[in-house]
Amino acid sequence: MTERPPYRLPRDVVPEHYELVIEPDLPGATFVGAAGIDLRVLAATSDIVLNANELDINRAALVMADGRNVVPEVIYRPGEQQLCLRLPTPLLPGNCRLDLRFTGKLNELLRGFYRSKFKSPSGKEQWVASTQFESTDARRAFPCWDEPDFKATFGVTLVADDGLTALSNAREVSSELVGNGKRRTRFAKTIKMSTYLVAFIVGPFELTSPRVVDRVPMRIAYVPGRGALTALAERAAAHALSFLRNYFSMPYPADKLDHIAIPDFASGAMENVGLVTYRETALLVAEDSAQVERQRVVSTVAHETAHMWFGDLVTMRWWEGIWLNEAFATFMETLATDQFEPRWQIWDNFGVDRAAALATDGLRASRAIEHPVGRPEEADDMFDVITYDKGASVLRMIERYLGDETFRRGLNLYLDTHRFSNTDVTDLWDALESASGQPIRAAMSTWVDQPGHPLVSASLTGPFELTLSQRRFLLDGGAPDAEQTWAVPVSLRYGTAEGGVEHDQLLLQDVSTTVPLKAVPTWLVVNEEAWGVYRTYYSEDLRGRLLSSHTGLSNRERLSLVSDMWATTVAGLVSLPSSLEVWWTLRDDRDPDVWWAISSGLGLLDLISHEEDRQRLHSFVVALAGGLFDDLGWGPAIHPQGARGQGQRLGGNGASGESPQQARLRARLVTLLGTLGSDDAVRTEARKRLALADAGEAPLPPDLATAVAQVVASAGGDEEWSVLYCHYKDAATPQDEVRYLQSLGGFSNGALLSRSIELTFSGEVRNQDAPYLLMSILGKREGSVLAWEAIEAHWEEMQRRWPANSIHRMLEALPGLAGTSHAAADRALAWLDAHPLPRGELKLRQARERLKVNLAFRERIAPLLRAALEDALNQRER
Ligand code: BES
Ligand code: ZN
Repeated sequence: MTERPPYRLPRDVVPEHYELVIEPDLPGATFVGAAGIDLRVLAATSDIVLNANELDINRAALVMADGRNVVPEVIYRPGEQQLCLRLPTPLLPGNCRLDLRFTGKLNELLRGFYRSKFKSPSGKEQWVASTQFESTDARRAFPCWDEPDFKATFGVTLVADDGLTALSNAREVSSELVGNGKRRTRFAKTIKMSTYLVAFIVGPFELTSPRVVDRVPMRIAYVPGRGALTALAERAAAHALSFLRNYFSMPYPADKLDHIAIPDFASGAMENVGLVTYRETALLVAEDSAQVERQRVVSTVAHETAHMWFGDLVTMRWWEGIWLNEAFATFMETLATDQFEPRWQIWDNFGVDRAAALATDGLRASRAIEHPVGRPEEADDMFDVITYDKGASVLRMIERYLGDETFRRGLNLYLDTHRFSNTDVTDLWDALESASGQPIRAAMSTWVDQPGHPLVSASLTGPFELTLSQRRFLLDGGAPDAEQTWAVPVSLRYGTAEGGVEHDQLLLQDVSTTVPLKAVPTWLVVNEEAWGVYRTYYSEDLRGRLLSSHTGLSNRERLSLVSDMWATTVAGLVSLPSSLEVWWTLRDDRDPDVWWAISSGLGLLDLISHEEDRQRLHSFVVALAGGLFDDLGWGPAIHPQGARGQGQRLGGNGASGESPQQARLRARLVTLLGTLGSDDAVRTEARKRLALADAGEAPLPPDLATAVAQVVASAGGDEEWSVLYCHYKDAATPQDEVRYLQSLGGFSNGALLSRSIELTFSGEVRNQDAPYLLMSILGKREGSVLAWEAIEAHWEEMQRRWPANSIHRMLEALPGLAGTSHAAADRALAWLDAHPLPRGELKLRQARERLKVNLAFRERIAPLLRAALEDALNQRER
């Protein structure tokens, strides 16, 4: 056995039950607490070691089985966030109880036990106190064995001002006044669970009346003024619970389920058992808001509800297994959302997340999905696109490979075997192998235990022979450090001269192989439906055949074609004109996600182009997207009030009869033409529409609102800045608030961007939002240097004020510095060398690598860009 590192707890004493009494003082920003912890001593020891962080321990006593009290010496080890309770004589195996009294501060860093301020509809400022414990911040609220496999039950009691709502993981069992204007609320004993899933919340929350699904009462909680925004969350919560209960063939494990929106929240949402917390935009939404905004609520609710089984009932043993939690929740979220609203075609949209995962996984600084985690602070760095999106894509790949029923049976077996307990990834392979009868462990290890993904090259080496080969794909175009192979599920589909379609499946495990074909293919797809987590590089011949038959490709296949072509262009394997040709061929494509992929390629070209070539690039964008947009038009969602004699609830939600895809496509094209395309007509129209909306003459169609705000900002001046700022300040919904705040990052004018940067540090913007405004400015050509200067100037302040996870997230936009001079990029890299961040080391290495990839791309492509664009435009005229 390897030696236990000092930051891990010894296992000779384990907790079985915690009785917690917590009394927060909201205005005073402090709390007092008492914990009675039932312990089982497994091996004789005179030290009891548990976690605590920034707590003052006022009293500690051990109550022995015979009633004797022993007072230990309390030794605090701040470096390890541990308390050591040293006893005069060793404890012998058996049971005892630890009684602790402590006090702590309600912080404003959105972690541990923290407080958050909001303005009630009457304009009064009020506080709420809430918890966020994952990964290792339960120890900031009460002393505990804060590692996921010390599962125990919890009995929580909250003491707070009478009139405030108090909530925790389990049902309320009693509530009584205790004098001093205080009320004591006790909650039932929880299931056996990990500390990171405990939650307690106090504040002037309102609640929907319970809706009982499968005997589980569910409610939505929100601060006053938000009551009109709960209907979708209620429906989504009910649907998710019954969908997942059926899928897992297992009832929901706890006794109630509340979903609560907290005014300040560090991430999107958190799966505390029975009391899921959300940022407001992820739970509260108007029924007539944009489809993407409603989809976010439905999928977040589904994601967190899935965690009730996957994560809460069955939990990873240690943080390197966090992908089991998050990848599964992401996978299940997509299954559930697809059933909730099939019209959203969410599995197509999943292709965008998969593409984002591959974009990071193509860096040398990527990591394996299952990655060692040592110190607790490293756990927080695991919540990234590799864990969530590559993880979920790999799960979808296995599910498709094994078949959905077999896969589901494997999961049921896994959950059933390990409920109320902890697992390693090998337990999942056991269950899937036993359900499928197939040895999948070695194949899965190639996806989970090594970084990167393959580029599968395909070429015809005979009329009836296809040759496939694999190697690691790297965006910098260089050779991999070591030879790697994967067990690649290849799923071929090809057309024959007679108009037939053939299919073939194989597992490519060697570096290369040949596949006999039944006919000479007129076209051929290697990764049918794009479920395989790899990129494909078609020989020029195959690429040509594919392009001439692109109408036979599914949405996800076209998305992956564009995305693979672009990635191989960035890597220098495919020429720029070839990628331009693909875009050109797909210019009438009606899938919004295909346009997402095209737009992101265009965005990089805009970032790295020489100033004097930008005009040409704008014309290219207009030539590319203008035709489709003319066809689509600003309607049907845009009509001045009464013009069609019907209501205004239009756009994407079905009221207009338009598909959600079409509404999203329109927004995508408006954004593309009005920003990267600098299209005057679109810009003028966007300004006009915003003005009409402000004048109360015609509301903005919800699905277009973000696009309009972005376009208005893009060409906007002083006046537009003020208009958008006022929209931000007066926002009636959480979605409007972030929409208009984010739009302030969309200006092209340096002085106005500086004004937006000032705003991020003014204290006026919520700390949960400020980093993302700065991020959008750092990521764009006109803003990156300004943003970077501000980052240097406010470095200390950012660390002090913003949530710990948000600094390295914001720095993901660092590659935006490729739009300026080498000198600016070098300066930033040197600063980062001299100022290491306490967290996010890997993310930062990835951002730095991508910046270098972008700079190299600029060096290679910028000089060729004008000619390539001119050729493409000329060909069109011919
Ligand atoms: N468990 C996470 C929240 C979390 C993330 C806690 C990082 C601590 C550190 C939660 O289940 C989650 O994944 N939330 C997502 C939203 C989800 C819909 C993808 C988030 O916060 O972005
Ligand atoms: Zn999650």
